[in-house]
Amino acid sequence: MESITDIDDLRAAIRARRARGDSIGFVPTMGALHGGHMGLAAVARQRVACVVMSIFVNPLQFGPAEDFDAYPRPRDADVAAAHAGGVDILFFPTADAMYPAGRAVAISAGDLDSRWEGAARPGHFSGVLTVVAKLFHLVAPDVAFFGQKDIQQVTLIRAMVRDLDFPIALVIVPTVRDADGLALSSRNAYLSPEERRAAVAVPRALRAMLAAWRARGVTDAGMLEALGREVLGATPGVAIEYVGVAEPDRLEPVSAVASGSVAMIAVRVGRTRLIDNVIFDRETRGP
Ligand code: PAF
Repeated sequence: MESITDIDDLRAAIRARRARGDSIGFVPTMGALHGGHMGLAAVARQRVACVVMSIFVNPLQFGPAEDFDAYPRPRDADVAAAHAGGVDILFFPTADAMYPAGRAVAISAGDLDSRWEGAARPGHFSGVLTVVAKLFHLVAPDVAFFGQKDIQQVTLIRAMVRDLDFPIALVIVPTVRDADGLALSSRNAYLSPEERRAAVAVPRALRAMLAAWRARGVTDAGMLEALGREVLGATPGVAIEYVGVAEPDRLEPVSAVASGSVAMIAVRVGRTRLIDNVIFDRETRGP
């Protein structure tokens, strides 16, 4: 595995891979690698000849009161995990290289940013899209891999790729979960053992919503949201930010659930903010 911090070195390494005919797959991350990231790398490994992973804790996507400083940065463990996961090129840019002084242009997320995570975290998606666009230009992959867990991020990146004509195919990989259903997230590391137990209310609520639709044919979004809130509310220490049901393309709220609709939850457990979602379908195992 090549470990690279310099942008010119990255471009040279990718040129060399292209020259020998390799297809390029890209897994962008903020590090603190866990099974979810490694799942993306594993899917990439099967699809392309050269897997590029970036690790960059992107300051643009954190609000002033958010956890940019506290965000875990276990560099040695990340290098070892990327190596073990079959990554060919690990790109670790510095903030100065990514955002030289005098930076004036950013990508706006438009009205897809106005609800759910966009409403809770103003400016977050503009920061995500700006860094992802930059990384797409630097890596110029054939395929990029993202996790379903950040479903609004996926929706916005899909829209950016379409609207700005990036010649990149996107592969969305199902959420990887612990045995009790909790979605893997770098932020799970913030949870105390007691909070970790309480956090399982999130997949439990999504499971209840999915089961009500599948087994009892409940399609009324209001009823399903109320059910999700009831399950979350039964667990002390879980503060609900939103429980919503939306269509999959723009994540606009729906009143009746159909196959492909998405249930989304955001909560706070202690000081930790957790998000998760499930797609209403008949087949997948669910959370
Ligand atoms: O999903 C993430 O880890 C980040 O939002 C991403 C896509 C790497 C951009 O910083």
